Amino acid sequence: MDKFVIEGGGKLNGKIKVSGSKNCSIALIPAMLLAPGTYTLSNTPNLRDVWTLSRLMSELGAFCELNGNDLFVDTRNANSTYASYEQVKRMRASFYVLGPILARHGEAKVSLPGGCAWGPRPVDLHLKGMEKLGAEIEIESGYVIAKAKNGKLEGAKIHFDISSVGATGNVLMAATLAKGTTKISNAALEPEITALGRFLIKMGAKIDGLGTSTIEIEGVDELKAVNETNIPDRIEAATFLIAAAMTQGKIELTNVNPYHLAAVIDKLEEAGCEIDVNQDTIVLTMNDKPKPTDVITSVYPGFPTDVQAQWNAFMLLADGTSKITDNIYTDRFKHVPELNRLGADIELVDNCAIINGGKKLSGATVMSSDLRASAALVLAGLIAEGNTDLLRIYHLDRGYELMENKLLDLGANIKRVKTEEF
Ligand code: EPZ
Repeated sequence: MDKFVIEGGGKLNGKIKVSGSKNCSIALIPAMLLAPGTYTLSNTPNLRDVWTLSRLMSELGAFCELNGNDLFVDTRNANSTYASYEQVKRMRASFYVLGPILARHGEAKVSLPGGCAWGPRPVDLHLKGMEKLGAEIEIESGYVIAKAKNGKLEGAKIHFDISSVGATGNVLMAATLAKGTTKISNAALEPEITALGRFLIKMGAKIDGLGTSTIEIEGVDELKAVNETNIPDRIEAATFLIAAAMTQGKIELTNVNPYHLAAVIDKLEEAGCEIDVNQDTIVLTMNDKPKPTDVITSVYPGFPTDVQAQWNAFMLLADGTSKITDNIYTDRFKHVPELNRLGADIELVDNCAIINGGKKLSGATVMSSDLRASAALVLAGLIAEGNTDLLRIYHLDRGYELMENKLLDLGANIKRVKTEEF
């Protein structure tokens, strides 16, 4: 088990190349099951969730190899329709393989995803979508057993009561090979879904309405393998912008899409940051403590729930009270008790964190619990006095590529230490 030892103090200054999007790559890779062939996905982040998904793809018969940030995938022998609990339990997003397997083979047996650090994180919308596409669904011993009537999915009208990234992605992939037209209403607008749709179109799918809440798919008989370049990781970008702002530093992000971060940039400016954006760069300068700035998370293009914990860390520095409301995951606050161990004064009321900022933060040993909560603890460690030991950073390694290297390049005092701590 590794830990980070972070010595607080000092400014973060410098330039960082943002990695490829974790959440986009783990949507694009299952899509490759729709068409047997060889693919190269450029700008793939070298991190645990990609390794985990590659192992699942291998279990399905595919070959995956990551060379630097180019992921080579060969799905010509990916003929298995069975995704085991042993693989799926490692990462919830593995459930994305359901749609492609079902669409390509007419049947699938996929383990239900395991729990999460916060939750519940149901998949009822995924299953509703597959049933609407003509699949018979049974749940047996923790597995989803799906069979397309007559061996092929059929286009349908599908409305999601909740805008779900995963359910939209799963159904979008499945519908590309269904017979007839599918119309998804209240579809997710996240950039990762738009990028998935663009990838599917490159593969030969017929899709209209990407980037809107109504997506129409005209099923085709087959798709073809193509190469693709992954989009930048907007959540990593937001994390580093906040890190620099917390230390009153100056950071330039390259290989980033500012358009994907409009809500975050707006809130950073409201908090007092100076931000310049160009085509694929963002420069942030912060010369003072942040102003208390409330945030309410919502679906894209609103403020992302995946940046909620990091914003919480940022507001510890504001003189005054800030309120963070998470309307997507109402209990995604595992970072709060750990931040309070560093001296923060945060009160949880339902799905809101009330932050009484301006308290002195002192280093302590704190525990990672999930990916973004762990990121928030790294940020807090950067400004706490003394050393902060952040345990179980395998949570961070799931979603951040070379995080400590990037922070060291910016001038942080952070090191990865092997521990026996279990
Ligand atoms: C994606 O998860 C992201 N993961 C999450 O990022 C992100 O937090 C989330 O979208 C919201 O933006 C990936 O893209 C791999 P949802 P997903 O389905 O698809 C409810 C990170 O830190 N819901 O959009 O699982 C659900 O409970 C990760 O990188 C149902 O009720 O999220 C939640 O309240 C964490 N039934 C809301 O919808 C369902 O069948 C949004 O969830 C599915 C979801």
